[in-house]
Amino acid sequence: TGDNSTEYALNLILGSETEVVVAHGHRRVLKDVLPFSEFLTDAFGRRHSYLRISLTEKCNLRCQYCMPEEGVKLTPRSQLLTTEEVLTLARLFVHEGVEKIRLTGGEPLIRPDVLHIIAEMRKLEGLKTIAITTNGINLARVLPGLKKAGVDLLNISLDSLVPAKFEFIVRRKGFHKVIEGIDKAVEMGYNPVKVNCVVMRGLNEDELLDFVALTEKKPLDVRFIEYMPFDGNKWNFKKMVSYAEMLDHIKQQWPNLEPLPGDETGTAKAFRVPGFKGQLGFITSMSDNFCGSCNRLRITADGNLKVCLFGNSEVSLRDFLRSGASDEELLQIIGAAVGRKKKQHAGMFNISQMKNRPMILIGG
Ligand code: 5AD
Ligand code: SF4
Repeated sequence: TGDNSTEYALNLILGSETEVVVAHGHRRVLKDVLPFSEFLTDAFGRRHSYLRISLTEKCNLRCQYCMPEEGVKLTPRSQLLTTEEVLTLARLFVHEGVEKIRLTGGEPLIRPDVLHIIAEMRKLEGLKTIAITTNGINLARVLPGLKKAGVDLLNISLDSLVPAKFEFIVRRKGFHKVIEGIDKAVEMGYNPVKVNCVVMRGLNEDELLDFVALTEKKPLDVRFIEYMPFDGNKWNFKKMVSYAEMLDHIKQQWPNLEPLPGDETGTAKAFRVPGFKGQLGFITSMSDNFCGSCNRLRITADGNLKVCLFGNSEVSLRDFLRSGASDEELLQIIGAAVGRKKKQHAGMFNISQMKNRPMILIGG
């Protein structure tokens, strides 16, 4: 794959921590010091080493912040990525330097081949972390299988500790199943178990302290997420509770809350109440975006590559795969899309006016 443009040479230099030899217009790299892929590096030097793949558009819940009441129009099955297509793309991205893959949905655990997909991904050399985001409904039942297949990290959505309120937010029953799933994940040694809580004014903002209290005895990482606008989720500015406001509220109860060093991807601002087993964090996509250090790419269940959660530009990798494109051709398409990635998202007010997918069709 020879490409000797200045941009590429620069990429080699910036991208490699170890020695690279560029001579006579040819690049030569020692096998284990490959620089980061030019295709996954954008115009701002961000290296995309984290891929999120949505396995299904279907979900057994109907969370208000994720999808409209009336549901969404599902893509016909024939247009969704097959098992093999998912694995082909995973292989390609990992070969280019992706180190972490998160499986999302919809609800990824309702896809029948989920364990097979994970077990196959586990064989990919270079893939360090396999994570999954689940609503927890089927988790307790599937956990042994997930662990055996090789899942490293679990994010479980839970927006209320009050069963009736949980059911109102997710428009379905199942609170106790989620709690059972979380407890079982802890029992099975996942540490931390991440719990995602989307905070919405008038709905669950009054439960912040109860969520923090959960981290006293359990190795949970509760992450409070600022409510983000997506198609059909009735977002408005007043319903969003900002990081600053949440922190202020929590500090009234625990003034000695201590900041922790950021996680490697830098999306959550992490804290711990001294003496508590677990920790908490804030995902401040709206009030203080982390676009500058973004390392994520997304593939939707219907096979579109999405370079930004809040951007509506997409390219169908599925169509290229099905027309028999070579790896090299696919990489050109991927590289071009990554190259068009914007510096940052357009800001919450613009985003709320913009056409995008509802969250359930993106995958978080
Ligand atoms: N705002 C913030 N987070 C959201 N999620 C889904 N929709 C939204 C939204 N509108 C996140 C939640 C959920 C995961 C699947 O996606 O964290 O747990
Ligand atoms: Fe389903 Fe997750 Fe969306 Fe809730 S947030 S409807 S659990 S995909």
